[in-house]
Formats: sequence, C-alpha cells, structure tokens
Amino acid sequence: MRVRKAVIPAAGLGTRFLPATKAQPKEMLPIVDKPTLQFIIEEAVASGIEEILIITGRNKSSIENHFDKSVELEMELEKAGKDDLLEEVRKISDLVNIHYIRQKEPRGLGHAIHCAKSFIANEPFAVLLGDDIVQNDGKPCLKQMIEAYDEYKTTILGVQEVPDGDVDKYGIVDGKHIEDRIYKVKNLVEMNILVRQSRSSGVA
Ligand code: UTP
Repeated sequence: MRVRKAVIPAAGLGTRFLPATKAQPKEMLPIVDKPTLQFIIEEAVASGIEEILIITGRNKSSIENHFDKSVELEMELEKAGKDDLLEEVRKISDLVNIHYIRQKEPRGLGHAIHCAKSFIANEPFAVLLGDDIVQNDGKPCLKQMIEAYDEYKTTILGVQEVPDGDVDKYGIVDGKHIEDRIYKVKNLVEMNILVRQSRSSGVA
C-alpha cells in the first residue's frame, strides 16, 4: 500500500526554547521568514503525502490559523496590489489536507503518535517531527525513505551521523550495512554510556 498519510507531533511543551515558546509553539518559530512547520509540510507534500494529521496541544491555535485560509488578509493584499504576497499566502492554505487532534497532556512522543491511531487505520504512514527540518537539494528526505519502504516493506528510520563527542545528545542506532546508505538496525539506545564504545550513527 502506498504511503499517503503523515503524522506530525507538535504538542510538546518546547521547554528548551523558553521563553520564546511560552505562548507560541516551537514548531512555529520561523527560519528567516517561514515557520519551521511549513518547511516540514512542504517536504511531506513534495514526497507525495496527501493527508496530514498534526498532533497539537495547548497554545497551538497559531498552527491551525497559519494553515487555514485568511480571507481578510487576502482581501487586504489584493486591494494593495501585493500579488506576490497574495499568492504566497494562498499557497499555504492550499498545500494539502490538514487534520488536527489534540494530545490532552504532553505524555511523550510515543503517546503523541498513538493519538493518530484512528486517522491511520491500517495504512503505512510517515512521522515527521514538528521541530526537525531536513534540507537537501534534489529528492526530499521523506521521498527517499518512502522509496526505501517500498523496497524493504519494513519500518524505515531516517538517521544521520554525528561526531563521537555528540552521541550523548541523540538516540543512537547500531546498524548492519546492507547497501549504499541502507542499514539494518540491530540495536537502538537513548543512553550515551553504551554508545560511546561503539561506532554508530545518530538518529536526528
Ligand atoms: P521534543 O522532545 O523535541 O519536544 O519532541 P518537546 O517535548 O516540546 O521539547 P522540550 O524537551 O520540552 O524542549 C519532538 C517532537 O514531538 C512533539 C514535540 O512537539 C516535537 O515536535 N511532542 C513531544 C509531542 O507532540 N507530544 C509530547 O508529549 C512530546
């Protein structure tokens, strides 16, 4: 079955970015002039995703407003002849079908994904973290992962190498090399002590 649904957990408290995230979700912090979450949704759309479920929490209404149609703003831009901005603003609300569900308390990433159970039903799906952008030229990262899924028909994790000195900041996988840039995961840990002794790749 084709991967056409994606889940984006965005219900965390974002404590590491306080005070910027006191009243605004971390996923909406801009990178220059675009919210982080928009980059992520654009990657999903460019990878063939048709339906997106965003897991939201408290203080997350700006997410819904950003991806909704803004009739007043569009009228003002039209009146002012700001056609480029008008097109940009319209593009955001036309990107893809976005659904929302609230995670009532931030009970962790696993629980956030579990909130998507009925949306997903029995389909294969992608998970993109609402605060994690992967930028590359050419084929989007998610598209590459979907192709790997189509070939191997198993769960696919996107990982990246990290310097040895940084392994304590990430989840770490121990993998057996299968082919170019494909590894079979043998072990996965969140603790640094075990990992410092092995040559592994870091999960972003
Ligand atoms: P993080 O652990 O990076 O987010 O989770 P956080 O909990 O907001 O961060 P800190 O530690 O307080 O700074 C990765 C992604 O999972 C979501 C977050 O919104 C983020 O996009 N998440 C995390 C949830 O949706 N629900 C949770 O209960 C926890």
